[in-house]
Amino acid sequence: MKLQINSITDYHTSYRESIEDPAAFWASQARAFQWTKEWDAVLESDFTGGYNRWYMGGHLNITINCLDRHLEESSDKTAIVWEPNDPMQETRKLSYRELHSSVCQFANGLRANGIGKGDRVCFYMPMLPELVIGILACARIGAIHSVVFAGFSAASLADRIKDASCKMLICADYNIRGPKQIPVKSLVDEALSLGCECIEKVIVYRNTGGGIPWVNGRDYWWYDIIEGQAEECTPEIMDSEDPLFILYTSGSTGKPKGVVHTCGGYMVYTGYTFNNVFQFQPGEIHWCTADIGWITGHSYVIYGPLLNGATTLLFEGIPTYPDPSRFWKICEKHKVNIFYTAPTAIRALMAAGDEHTIGHDLSAIRVLGTVGEPINEEAWHWYNEKVGRGIAPVIDTWWQTETGGIMITPLPGITDTKPCFASYPLPGVQPILVDVNGNEIEGNNAEGLLCIKFPWPSIIRTTYGDHERCRQSYFSAFPGLYFTGDEARRDEDGRYRIIGRVDDVINVSGHRIGTAEIENAIDEHDNVVESAVVGYAHPIKGQGIYAYVILLHPVSDETALFKEINEKLVQYIGPIAKADEVMIVSGLPKTRSGKIMRRLLRKAAEKDYENLGDISTLLNPEIVEEIVEKSKLKP
Ligand code: WTA
Repeated sequence: MKLQINSITDYHTSYRESIEDPAAFWASQARAFQWTKEWDAVLESDFTGGYNRWYMGGHLNITINCLDRHLEESSDKTAIVWEPNDPMQETRKLSYRELHSSVCQFANGLRANGIGKGDRVCFYMPMLPELVIGILACARIGAIHSVVFAGFSAASLADRIKDASCKMLICADYNIRGPKQIPVKSLVDEALSLGCECIEKVIVYRNTGGGIPWVNGRDYWWYDIIEGQAEECTPEIMDSEDPLFILYTSGSTGKPKGVVHTCGGYMVYTGYTFNNVFQFQPGEIHWCTADIGWITGHSYVIYGPLLNGATTLLFEGIPTYPDPSRFWKICEKHKVNIFYTAPTAIRALMAAGDEHTIGHDLSAIRVLGTVGEPINEEAWHWYNEKVGRGIAPVIDTWWQTETGGIMITPLPGITDTKPCFASYPLPGVQPILVDVNGNEIEGNNAEGLLCIKFPWPSIIRTTYGDHERCRQSYFSAFPGLYFTGDEARRDEDGRYRIIGRVDDVINVSGHRIGTAEIENAIDEHDNVVESAVVGYAHPIKGQGIYAYVILLHPVSDETALFKEINEKLVQYIGPIAKADEVMIVSGLPKTRSGKIMRRLLRKAAEKDYENLGDISTLLNPEIVEEIVEKSKLKP
């Protein structure tokens, strides 16, 4: 793939062109890919109704672009390097030819098992090459993949399966993470017992070979599915706007919503961003540490790298197993050139001590990326100096599940970097800051709500099964704008710094969780009458979860209660949603209209007792003193 911006002049020219004539700009980007029929029109957008379409009438299959297209020149090139959890176990490598054959074989197996275009297939799998194979096999035959992070609970899995009425579920027998083995198949059975009648078949990949429950006639082994299947598979030719996948993410209210991305626009945008943002050079090894269960894994473990013919590294384990030098050992072993991770991992490894980075040859690293949450200055410098040796630029990339790909980021070696700043928008991206009334805040040195005023190819198309929710969530706050839910600052030179969410979404270790989801799970506890949850500054996780609960009956053992509350959170959401602090209160500060004043709760959680603001308008101002006093007693 060519069309790489490689100088600051290029950046400015591209940016200008992308604004002056977006259709021409995006048409030329799209021509870097193989289409079986060219589009009739580049874009059609209506931000009022939340409708956005790209490359209308164009036909393609993304797997032709990820796989077939590379076979002629680089079939022996490594597509996937898989690094197992156990460092003593052998690395697996799949060339583009092998990946192509495996995808085709599994795709044929899916077709033979009744899966076709438009069917939803759910994945609940650890970081194995088979997850990539399965996902691409769906894309090959036009089935819509819906990957659920394997750390979510059975209840969360069931909700997602039902919401998308998935026909098939693909999982592993066990998931290995650090010293733990997680019985994935048992969790699947538990989820399916929660009313997932839509699932006809379950395909199980044998990862550990441990014993698992089995339902005859419903469960099939992965190897039985591919048995006897051809290694060529005619791709389903898709319309640009046919859905490629659904990925659930949390919002301010209700249950997680299924963000829908479509074939054409998502392909163009992830291919374009991978190529430019990482300044990818042929032959490089790219390692994005995100789990495929999140958007970062979709776009920058799988699609972006493969669209560009890169080698993508897949790691099964965790950063601290067997010890906190694991990431650096892997970088050294595979001569990783592009390393992309989350601030929470950087902070955890920084806290583990510099001795873990010392002595590892990290000289192959050319670019360091971060994503998912604001990176603090200390972590930025540590990353830059200890991992990047002061040479590899740190690119702080801002984007969202809904944007499909990176939106605001420095370009390594081209634009400057500044700690904590995601910096400049990519060509094609038009961010603006607005005040609460939606008035644009012009000029530099400004702070406001971050919106995007023009569509880009991988903008969210809809929330699965409920378009009104999509319109409401992203396009209704400020008419004519896409609202990100984030607050940002623009410095004197026009660089953006992302401050954080302004809605009721908490970003815990880079994972988005809605306070409503957490509260609903806590309220399942028999002794909880009402709860309110806020995020607060946490040294490693970025944000921690602070829960305020009103009890039905007083308890003598608070520790036991906290444990039970966390059990509910693990049961209904997953271990990532465990509360860091719980405070028992006799009431919650409410406005006269009954709204919980979360701002106050956030301040108490952070022990910031100055400027509590005007509390006289509260329904129950006396509660504030109780909360403040109790907060002072917390560690
Ligand atoms: C936050 C992850 C600061 C932000 C790709 C956004 C960031 C949410 C950054 C999306 C960054 C993402 N600096 N904050 N570089 N990148 N965020 O959907 O609040 O899991 O709205 O997508 O993460 O999270 P999501």
